[in-house]
Amino acid sequence: MNTDEQLNIVVGVTGGIAAYKACHLVRYFKELGHDVRVVPTPNALNFVGKATFEALSGNRVSTTVFDAVEEVQHVRIGQEADLIVIAPATADFLARMVAGRGDDLLSATVLVATCPVVVAPAMHTEMWMHPATVSNVSTLRDRGTIVLEPASGRLTGVDSGPGRLPEPEQIGSVALAIAKAGALPRDFEGARMLITAGGTQENIDPVRFIGNRSSGRQGFALAEVAVQRGAKVTIVAGATDDLPTPPQAKVVRVTSAIEMADAVAQRAGDHDVFIMAAAVADFRPATQADAKLKKGNDDDALASVVLVENPDILASTVEQRVRGEVSPQSVIMGFAAETGSAEHTPLELAEAKLQRKGCDLLMLNEVGHGKVFGQLDNQGVLLSASGEREVVPAGTKFDCAVTILDRVAEVWTAKACRSQ
Ligand code: CTP
Repeated sequence: MNTDEQLNIVVGVTGGIAAYKACHLVRYFKELGHDVRVVPTPNALNFVGKATFEALSGNRVSTTVFDAVEEVQHVRIGQEADLIVIAPATADFLARMVAGRGDDLLSATVLVATCPVVVAPAMHTEMWMHPATVSNVSTLRDRGTIVLEPASGRLTGVDSGPGRLPEPEQIGSVALAIAKAGALPRDFEGARMLITAGGTQENIDPVRFIGNRSSGRQGFALAEVAVQRGAKVTIVAGATDDLPTPPQAKVVRVTSAIEMADAVAQRAGDHDVFIMAAAVADFRPATQADAKLKKGNDDDALASVVLVENPDILASTVEQRVRGEVSPQSVIMGFAAETGSAEHTPLELAEAKLQRKGCDLLMLNEVGHGKVFGQLDNQGVLLSASGEREVVPAGTKFDCAVTILDRVAEVWTAKACRSQ
């Protein structure tokens, strides 16, 4: 399915306090040009009024199979949908889906649908951990329903824990990438994944630094999709745009390349998959002034900052694996930001980088002239140490994350099989 086209998206809303976030989800899809039909359960309307959903979606809203009977809408809405996203989904609604109930418009719509159904649960931690809910989630996943991981954090009232609804744009972007891919396998169940993201900042003095334009968006999109495929994710992040934390991921914040290198090296032995998406500064100032440097003073230190090379985090992780400090079954992936040169194409430069760094996979991005850095879209070529070359077609950074993780999963599975 091409999600650049206008899709018919059904946003199902069930009766939980997070129902208000569904309003933003509807707006997110509408702003991307999709047609949205909101189907709330009767209880959802205790939290958000029908008029709000009608105004935001531009479509009529009903909750019962007995409205507009002549249009057979309890069947038609599900048949015509390209994607159904239920957010929030209560524990009760999950149980009703498992039982195959069809006694309101939303449950009937889900029973009819053949398109991807994405469910974003939101409930108190006790309900999420209850054996009944755990079993319901597992049954739904076995049937092909995409049940998203909830975020951890503040719940209704004073308590906090897993069960919180992720932010609407997190749900929306993952759901659209799933709609394009058609499915979301749980192929990283049990994998411990470390992702570097964002740009490093190398201090010159307390007010100045050398930095770059990386937004961290590709690294965070990889983390979002990996979490939903079952991975336990740690992100070591430099400077990034203001991005929501992927559900249940741990984010370690660092500033400089040295700090990022230390944070990765300390944790490397506890991880199985490494994706180095950060834009790491190759050099840092040889000295960092304690006080602000002044023009014309301090031996003109500002006019000629002396630089020394930073450690290569990707190459160091490969070396840790060679030394046996990182599992031989691990998968290590890097990115190659290339503009090309008079002598070499970007692909030639990426081939050489793959060899030099010794990683298992390398994604070539052509950068410069507004391409990739800070943009919502990406594209490139995925190179593997075993010689395969795969074009990653243009798409959102979430679409690219799906393609990249498909390949990472293949390499991981192949290594695991070889070691048995
Ligand atoms: N990388 C790293 N540590 C560094 C520099 C780069 O881990 N000190 C990683 C990046 O995260 C990326 C890959 O190496 O996954 C390639 O980054 P890139 O900037 O394209 O390559 P460089 O090694 O910096 O080479 P050059 O700038 O010469 O192209």
